[in-house]
Amino acid sequence: MTEHTYPQTKQVLNQAVADIYKAISIIRQAHWYMRGQGFLYLHKQMDKLIDGLDGHLDELSERLIMLGGAPYSTLKEYDQVSQLVEVEGSFEVPMAERLNRLVDLYEYLATLYRQGLAVTDEENEAVANGLFADALADAEKVSWMLKAELSR
Ligand SMILES: [Fe+2]
Repeated sequence: MTEHTYPQTKQVLNQAVADIYKAISIIRQAHWYMRGQGFLYLHKQMDKLIDGLDGHLDELSERLIMLGGAPYSTLKEYDQVSQLVEVEGSFEVPMAERLNRLVDLYEYLATLYRQGLAVTDEENEAVANGLFADALADAEKVSWMLKAELSR
């Protein structure tokens, strides 16, 4: 492990740290601000999504440290590095629009995780590769579930 530096792997791991952190913030907003049909289970479901992402966040950031990297750890860095876009909280967003935004969020994450798979494959970093595979499996499952809820 020490004879390699894995530059691209470290970069994509840190991108994932920033993006997942910001994704959690966006989902927490949905948890707090949602109103409408499905609230009683969707409100709780948001907590499960947050727990899932938080697990990947911790695994990916700790792998980054093991490879000699330094994970972003401030709100400012997360905001500057992540391409995810936050909007001010509003109770007026229709439930379907809120869920559609979450589908977009998870598709963004899935694309990032696929980049992580490609880069870790290229640099032959099998552990991070496995972490990205796990995260991708979750992201695709959540996208599928959200779309099924939306009859998409
Ligand atoms: Fe809560």
